Formats: sequence, structure tokens, C-alpha cells
Amino acid sequence: MDTIEVAYRHSAGRLRIMAWQGSVNGKRSVHSHKFTIVLNFLLKGYVLVSSTPVHRRRFVILISGRGSNMQAIVKALQQSPMDTSAEVVAVIANRDDAAGLRWAQQQGLATAVVPHRAYNNREAFDQALGDCIASFAPDYVLLAGFMRILTPGFVQRFRGQIINIHPSLLPAFPGLHTHQQAIQTGVQWHGCTVHVVTPLLDNGPIIAQGVVPVIEGDTPEDLAQRVLTVEHAMYGRVAGWLAQGKVTIDSDDKVQVDGVPVRAFYADGSQVNDK
Ligand code: GRF
Repeated sequence: MDTIEVAYRHSAGRLRIMAWQGSVNGKRSVHSHKFTIVLNFLLKGYVLVSSTPVHRRRFVILISGRGSNMQAIVKALQQSPMDTSAEVVAVIANRDDAAGLRWAQQQGLATAVVPHRAYNNREAFDQALGDCIASFAPDYVLLAGFMRILTPGFVQRFRGQIINIHPSLLPAFPGLHTHQQAIQTGVQWHGCTVHVVTPLLDNGPIIAQGVVPVIEGDTPEDLAQRVLTVEHAMYGRVAGWLAQGKVTIDSDDKVQVDGVPVRAFYADGSQVNDK
């Protein structure tokens, strides 16, 4: 064994290896198994005492445009210990001019385009999109500024696996132009919601919400920018919870996040629990 790089956690006096790569007898290999090992300093070797496969959760991200939320998710997942528990296996867009595709390619991520204009109806597009997604065998499909309404059949196909971010405090202001609606309505708080997707538009069990104040004189663009700061922090955090298998839906259709009783975010992107 000539080299070894490890991502590890301490556990009961031993090193718990979550993932390692190295070369054994000249053959390079990468493993995402969990090993408990005992270091043998005298022999400069490693003794394997147990091995448990760890499922690295697979995320597909759907975008239509600049993809700033996609970037926030990718960056959050690159942070240890998330990098060993999840990976973004593909970024898929419904238009080939989606700016976020270039960024994803620069990161070395797999990308694909399923152009909605090439299909006669929503069902045909959703069938093709679903087939493309399924080819990457994801655990979760994260919508990040994906501007297509999904058919009930598509939602059913990936039931419980599709997550969306919407720029309002749902159930207020579903649909488009949420910032303008907030200003016109005169609400004093606006924000964003990450939720599990159901066949109803901008509906479904809420995973997290973040708030921002609406300030007199705000344009929709001012407000959108303020909300976006929270979106990035919040979606990144939610991706981490999903990566770690913490998110479940209970029998009342409410989300539970193991160990996170409050999933509310402030305007600066910090979480209520952090303060
Ligand atoms: C975000 O505000 C998102 O909430 C909404 O569309 C916008 C997409 O922005 N659905 P980006 O493509 O993630 O930068």
C-alpha cells in the first residue's frame, strides 16, 4: 500500500473511515464504504476489523436558468461530512441556454438537456424528462429554479423524492411574480419555502422557511435579491439534511427532520437554532 487518503470520524477510540481512496499494489481505487480500522503504527499498516457499506445519496438537480440555487446546493454538499454522504449525479435543464449548465460542467458534473419545446405536450415532455432523471438513479430530485409545471404522473413517478424551492412564504403567493405580489399586498414579511412536491402547484409538506422584511420603496428586484440570500443558505442546509437521511414525512403529512425541531431561517441566512 503506497498512499491512502481518508475522510474520517473519531469513534470510540478508533478511526471510522467514511470514504477512502488510495492505491493498493499499484491499483488506484476509491471506496465509499464505512470501515472501522485500528492503526498499527509499528508496521505502518492498517488492519480492517469491520466494513459496512454506506449509501451515498444521489441528487439530480433540475434548472431552467442561472442556477444560483444549484450552486449553493453543490457547494453545501462539497463540505465535509456531507461530501461522503451525498453527490450530485446530474444537472438537467429544459433549455440548452440555461446559464447554470456551464457552471455545472466547469465543476465536472454530468449535465443533460431535455428541451421542452421538442415535445408536443406536457405528458410527453415529462415522460422524457423522467426517463432522463431515472437513468441517473437518484434518491432526490431537487428543483432549483426549474420553470416547468410538472404533471401528476411525473410527481407520482418520483413520489416523495422531488423537492422544490419557492420564493414566498407558502401557502401565500403560489405561482409566478411572488415578489411583486408581496409588495402589492402590503405584507411586511416575505420569504421562501423548501417543500416536498405534490401534484398541486407550490404545495406540499414544508421542510423549511426563511423570512425577510419588506422595506418601503422595495422594487420586486430588491426583494428578490434579499430573498435569494436566504434561499441559498436554506437550500444548502436542507440538502445536507437530505444527504444525511434526516428528512421524513409523518402520517399527518408533516415533515420531520431528525434532530432539527425548528427549520426557520432569518434574513441573513442563519437558522433560528444557530442563534
Ligand atoms: C429562485 O428565486 C427560485 O426560488 C425560483 O426561481 C429562482 C431561480 O433562481 N423558483 P436560480 O436559477 O436558482 O438562480
